[in-house]
Amino acid sequence: DADGAATLRTPIVAVLGHVDHGKTTLLDKIRGSAVSEGEAGAITQHIGATAVPLSTISEMAGELVDPTDFDLPGLLYIDTPGHHSFSTLRSRGGALADIAVLVVDVNDGFQPQTEEAVDILKRTQTPFIVAANKVDTVPGWNPNEGLPIQESMEQQSERVQGDLNERLYGIIGELSDHDFAADMYWRVQNFQNNVGVVPVSAMTGEGVPDLLTVLMGLSQRYMKDEMQIDVEGPGAGTVLEVKEAQGFGTTVDAVLYDGTIREDDEIVVGGLEAPITTEVRALLQPKPLEEIRTEKAFEKVPEVSAAAGVKIAAPDLDDAMAGAPIRVVRDRDRGQVIADVEQE
Ligand code: GTP
Ligand code: MG
Repeated sequence: DADGAATLRTPIVAVLGHVDHGKTTLLDKIRGSAVSEGEAGAITQHIGATAVPLSTISEMAGELVDPTDFDLPGLLYIDTPGHHSFSTLRSRGGALADIAVLVVDVNDGFQPQTEEAVDILKRTQTPFIVAANKVDTVPGWNPNEGLPIQESMEQQSERVQGDLNERLYGIIGELSDHDFAADMYWRVQNFQNNVGVVPVSAMTGEGVPDLLTVLMGLSQRYMKDEMQIDVEGPGAGTVLEVKEAQGFGTTVDAVLYDGTIREDDEIVVGGLEAPITTEVRALLQPKPLEEIRTEKAFEKVPEVSAAAGVKIAAPDLDDAMAGAPIRVVRDRDRGQVIADVEQE
């Protein structure tokens, strides 16, 4: 595509955190839509995937990002629900991710699902940063729409700055209790050894430029070698959801994390009883900045390259399982691919 970044995979970013701490609002701010408004009870019931191209990221990050510094095509965000009953969805999102954003409400600090998310990130060794969200709710906060956070903090009164810092150091202390050395992101030299804390407001967009910049930097610096993938190779992905789609029967919503998948490819999908071998009838992809859950945002495409959210239409998917692997067979031995899927 236009960025000439065809051999670099889009990093997958999982957004994790306690219920109502602002994960979906933060993504909404980034993609300029309002998915959370349509959600039942304001709880995110399903994992969604959103592709944000580099051009959008550099536009939002403004002076903080020079797009020529990056040769990654963008970032693919996976929103996860914070409600306690969605633990499997959270660990699925965490396990898929290259990097993660842990969203923590500055007023509430660490809560049960924050703890759970930290455990998932530790277990899966996923590098992450903390979005210390809702800074605009600190009493007396004077909002500066979309401003980098240090600039906005300088413009707050001494008392407000003190209040916010106290909360931020509370979060840093809680990270330390979980064996993560953390600091304000602008003081972190090496994001592999230290967790950077980015104060943000998903509401006013303050700190969002910083968050995007740190995420791009983190991906670029520490993930690049791993993401130098063979984009022509047979695709590998994970099923997020199995659902009906009008005109296509049972489909699977999936995140492709490696290689490509094409129309008419033979695929093997983990099933309730046994792996399902079938043939791709259609690939439906969300347009950039649109949500995979919004049917109208889909377009039929002949081929999809990692990383991407994709809806796969194929016969015999009724017994496909959320969380199960998907593998493209292409020129490999089908029996071996089936055995691999069974193993996972
Ligand atoms: P679950 O998906 O249920 O886990 O919640 P979530 O983390 O996605 O939270 P969501 O984005 O739905 O936000 C919860 C509530 O907090 C909503 O009413 C948001 O408007 C509000 N909110 C989120 N971010 C901010 C913020 O930065 N400032 C303020 N003032 N409110 C916010
Ligand atoms: Mg949500």
